[in-house]
Amino acid sequence: MAPHLRLAPFRPHEGPPELHGAARVGVRPGTELIHTLAATGERPLAFRVSGLPAGLSVDPETGIVRGTAPAAPGTHPVHVAVGNRLGATSATVELVVGDALALTPPLGWNSWNVYGETVSAGVVARIADGMVASGMRDAGYAYLNLDDFWHAPARAADGRPLAHPERFPDGIAALAEEVHARGLKLGIYSDAGHLTCGGCYGGYGHEAIDAETYASWGVDLLKYDYCHAPVSREAAVARYRTMADALAGCGRSIVFNVCEWGLRRPWEWAPELGAAYWRTTPDIFDSFSYTFWGVRGIARRNQALAEYAGPGRWNDPDMLVVGNRGRGRVASNLPVGRPLHLPFSVHLRGLDDRQSHTHLSLWAMMAAPLLASSDPTELSDVDRDILLNPEVLAIDQDPLGQQGRVVTRRRGVWVMRKPLASGGAAISFSNVSPFRARRRLSLASLGLAGRPDVRDAWARESLGPLDHLEVDLARHESRVFVVAPPAGG
Ligand code: GLA
Repeated sequence: MAPHLRLAPFRPHEGPPELHGAARVGVRPGTELIHTLAATGERPLAFRVSGLPAGLSVDPETGIVRGTAPAAPGTHPVHVAVGNRLGATSATVELVVGDALALTPPLGWNSWNVYGETVSAGVVARIADGMVASGMRDAGYAYLNLDDFWHAPARAADGRPLAHPERFPDGIAALAEEVHARGLKLGIYSDAGHLTCGGCYGGYGHEAIDAETYASWGVDLLKYDYCHAPVSREAAVARYRTMADALAGCGRSIVFNVCEWGLRRPWEWAPELGAAYWRTTPDIFDSFSYTFWGVRGIARRNQALAEYAGPGRWNDPDMLVVGNRGRGRVASNLPVGRPLHLPFSVHLRGLDDRQSHTHLSLWAMMAAPLLASSDPTELSDVDRDILLNPEVLAIDQDPLGQQGRVVTRRRGVWVMRKPLASGGAAISFSNVSPFRARRRLSLASLGLAGRPDVRDAWARESLGPLDHLEVDLARHESRVFVVAPPAGG
């Protein structure tokens, strides 16, 4: 355990098996499904699965489910058992065939904050391997998302999108295959203007051919940015609707991410278009600051939007910068009307251990998409323990899909409460002040009656039945508790 943090060390490929990741998986009728039944524990693992609808099959060693989803909408409970030399466990995963995708917040990786305009097929292969070797995939991280700059200088003569010929010499379809073979899904990036924020060609006017091509490539997610596009909300809604409709009709399950930085209250209109998540803030930088680009400033803005989140529709306070430690690039496009593209990288000091685990605590409590934008092959032990902690990820992924709400911010300690599917709740304390802080809260004051069982999620420890929570927090430290439902309730 890191001496100054209550953080359980996590070795994803040691010990008895544990199942992680989404407990509810959405897929459109009759479309391809690629889904890894995420499990940690010593290899080899053996999966036994029952209840998979016809057309889908599982690899018994990797837990990768592939095939075509049923043509009819419906819910299929799939029973998953996994064992190794040291033990066995089981769980039920619900496969929901219908319109809604991302029934729990997407977990994955995004190229932007680490690679910017240098992203390439080589980077993707390295990251895909890194996501598997680091245990990220097995902890539930499923998407590998290309951000800006995968594009060729221009589209093909017939209007089709093309990938950059030198950085993606075999094209995106080959890349998607590589990514899928590892049980991961591939995301891509475009823009509702004629150019992307970085100045590559945008999607405006090419929505149908883009959706069709992305589907034929095997793309699983689209982040759709809003640079070089009209300011008005009406125009934005119309442009996003055109792309959403093209994706809905493309014959593949492609998660749609609206990225206009929260400037036009997308939480009010994006869910109706079928978007699974929408950015609520400007770009995050590798900073804990209380600014509009820092972890605290961004969290504060996103916390106010809890009522808009639910299964299949999430507020997105932007990527995780955990793991960058100042090595990452700073976002080089500031969405201030006209995008400002800086042709160089700026480096900040980054987050320390406590700030990193507070960043993840807040994002998990907010049921945010968790898209790591750091290099999984260079994670320190502490950063891996933070990014992969199964109990904190499970709070984010809780199938009830509620975004936690702020109970109090008294004297710089944010207390949040997130109701869970169990009938209990997750409670977090985040000391965003520069001073040490002690707090004691009765569970009754949080609406949790009796003396329920309490777990410390970061420490992965049971604290037994309690009627109050008590914390002694260093500057920028968080504690996250999972409170069981009241006995008999
Ligand atoms: C905008 C987005 C970022 C990133 C860049 C790429 O700034 O908000 O997340 O996608 O564009 O150019």
